[in-house]
Amino acid sequence: MRRKEFIKTCGLACLGATSIGVFLQSCVPTKNITANIKGDELVIPKSDFAKKDGHYNYIVVNNSKLQFPIALFRFSLDEFNALYLQCTHQGNELNAYGDKLVCAAHGSEFDNKGNVTNGPATDALRSFPVRISQDSIHVSLKSVEH
Ligand code: FES
Repeated sequence: MRRKEFIKTCGLACLGATSIGVFLQSCVPTKNITANIKGDELVIPKSDFAKKDGHYNYIVVNNSKLQFPIALFRFSLDEFNALYLQCTHQGNELNAYGDKLVCAAHGSEFDNKGNVTNGPATDALRSFPVRISQDSIHVSLKSVEH
């Protein structure tokens, strides 16, 4: 194979692999649940992360008292991150795609820790303290108006 053909073939293969990865990540269905608020905490049963072939890496949690949903990311059995799905640019609701949170308004993107990965937003997402009990994940809402 000539050098030019080799580079062309490798380039197309890389492009294909990248596209498939992005496509597969965006095809993973997002699980949405409604959770109860008890006191100042949103309480999510750990069982909501279970699925047939393992567990969800994140779920989107709603409650009618919250203006925006909360994305709850699971990093291990006892490590979770709760992020408010309100864009820090102009306040639109974010959508979750795999480990990415995307704003449809102007294209800002955030990672699963709430850090900006693509502007125009410049500030990280609001996150909430998380407490783990035997059966549930408790997200403290003390700093949210609800
Ligand atoms: S409101 Fe989200 S990018 Fe502008």
